[in-house]
Amino acid sequence: MTPRPIWIGADGETVQVIDQRLLPHQRVVLDLKTVADAIEAIRTLAVRGAPLIGVTAAWAIAGAARRNADEPHLMEAAERIKAARPTAVNLCWAVDRVLHAVRACPDPLRRGAAAWAEAAAITAAEVDRCRRIGAHGLPLIEALSRANAGRPVNVLTHCNAGWLACVEYGTATAPIYTAFERGLPLHVWVDETRPLNQGARLTAWELAEVGIPHTLVADNAGGHLMQHGRVDIVIVGTDRTTAAGDVANKIGTYLKALAARDNHVPFYVALPSSSFDWSLSDGLRGIPIEERAADEVRFVDGWDGQRRNRVRICPAATPASNFAFDVTPARLVTGLITERGVCRADAGEIERLFPEKGERAKARGAKMPKAS
Ligand code: MRU
Repeated sequence: MTPRPIWIGADGETVQVIDQRLLPHQRVVLDLKTVADAIEAIRTLAVRGAPLIGVTAAWAIAGAARRNADEPHLMEAAERIKAARPTAVNLCWAVDRVLHAVRACPDPLRRGAAAWAEAAAITAAEVDRCRRIGAHGLPLIEALSRANAGRPVNVLTHCNAGWLACVEYGTATAPIYTAFERGLPLHVWVDETRPLNQGARLTAWELAEVGIPHTLVADNAGGHLMQHGRVDIVIVGTDRTTAAGDVANKIGTYLKALAARDNHVPFYVALPSSSFDWSLSDGLRGIPIEERAADEVRFVDGWDGQRRNRVRICPAATPASNFAFDVTPARLVTGLITERGVCRADAGEIERLFPEKGERAKARGAKMPKAS
């Protein structure tokens, strides 16, 4: 079990989260009392990572339902929450799950309680999914460990897909934590993940907390490491993966997948089913890519020994753009590590693991290429 970045406060209604903007330098807890508080936390990346965005959204809409479960009020809150960030599909998925629970509740006086119970169920289910991802990913690391004859397995990861991005265990980190608990020798290459440095700030912190050997590298180092046989496996998370296996994840993931393919390094994506978009098959055309403020690229945040400090790293007038995610085509993905097992990133294989979702996607008209 790992710590959690989100919980319900002692009053039984305030959602409390770790403010991830300040880690690893300061550990500050934020109170999210209103829908507006939750939206602000999601937008500003105080809470971030696809599963955690979903769980935060679930608690936000459940809190709104407790205060007033009338349909127009809830719909208005739901639309605002869903618009907070565009790429992680977990956001809309979680809000819709809670809305569904409210509408399915026959007693108008119990609707708030039904919404709250659904948010709790979503949270518990995400923990369980991540735990299972760890169990299903473990054999991949065990096999590499055997092949390495005891030499540490070198895993490269990008961004933060750890417990901070989920509720417990993480997605990409779940197999890493599980393998470490089993005593397998491991070492993790941590991509710094510009511009907001989720790797340097968050993944490095998480791994250090439990003593997993790791090394921070500049974002562009992965290709070099792979060319020299220093990466055994790449494992990343995802914000949205299509029913045909195209993967949206933090900007720079695609370049890692290209380098992995060129160097015959297996490239795996770990995800709970809440990160699949069953309505899409073409990720490049269908997945909305968030563009964030240019100043996130033009400035960096750090610790000067006494306080956090923000400095500009380019000439004052330099224009910048800030694409937050990219799409790795399914053909570059060796496999998906899900709560139901590991599969190839193609429609048929995904549907084999999630037959009920495949049917739903077909019914909605998603283009489902035939499995080869
Ligand atoms: O912008 P962020 O920090 O929310 O981006 C997060 C990622 O890209 C993660 O890799 C992804 O959400 C998977 S989290 C388990």
